[in-house]
Amino acid sequence: MRVVCIDLTSEFYLKSQKLRNQVLREPLGQNLFDEDLSDEINQFHFVALEKTQVLGVVVLVPHYKNGMGKLRQMATSEEVRGKGYGIMLVKALELFASEHGMTSIILHARHTAIGFYEKLGYQITSDVFQEVGTDHVVMEKNIGVLER
Ligand SMILES: CC(C)(COP(=O)(O)OP(=O)(O)OC[C@H]1O[C@@H](n2cnc3c(N)ncnc32)[C@H](O)[C@@H]1OP(=O)(O)O)[C@@H](O)C(=O)NCCC(=O)NCCS
Repeated sequence: MRVVCIDLTSEFYLKSQKLRNQVLREPLGQNLFDEDLSDEINQFHFVALEKTQVLGVVVLVPHYKNGMGKLRQMATSEEVRGKGYGIMLVKALELFASEHGMTSIILHARHTAIGFYEKLGYQITSDVFQEVGTDHVVMEKNIGVLER
């Protein structure tokens, strides 16, 4: 398995959207392809690849707020859960963010995923709120900044 930051013109973008839809939207009775995705061109899309198969995805909104990147759309395929793909995707995103001048990452965690982000050093910084019809909290982590 390798984690790569994809070009949005590549075949992997549609594959990553299908995985996001399957993991993050269909279980909620929603469809990712009904959403306005036009801003995604300005975001960085990391995928976990096994040959040409996309088995995980996470997206970085660069410089979302001062010095802060936003992590969104974290999903791994059910058949690879617990094998470290999720952690490798977040670490790749954090390294990239750090190399591009961001010093912290913010995200909206579903209640069921809080433990995953805590393992990665994220801390809860908000009360519970609703997003896509399910409980979420804001979580944040300082990642420092790398010299280029
Ligand atoms: C959350 C998710 C991305 C984790 O992906 P994964 O590929 O299973 O993660 P990893 O294998 O890298 O797991 C890393 C560690 O976190 C733990 N972990 C994974 N998911 C967890 C969860 N939901 N709650 C608590 N711990 C979790 C694993 O047990 C593992 O711990 P270990 O290193 O002690 O064995 C995946 O379960 C998923 O796609 N869930 C559905 C979508 C979702 O909720 N996305 C997040 C939206 S905010």
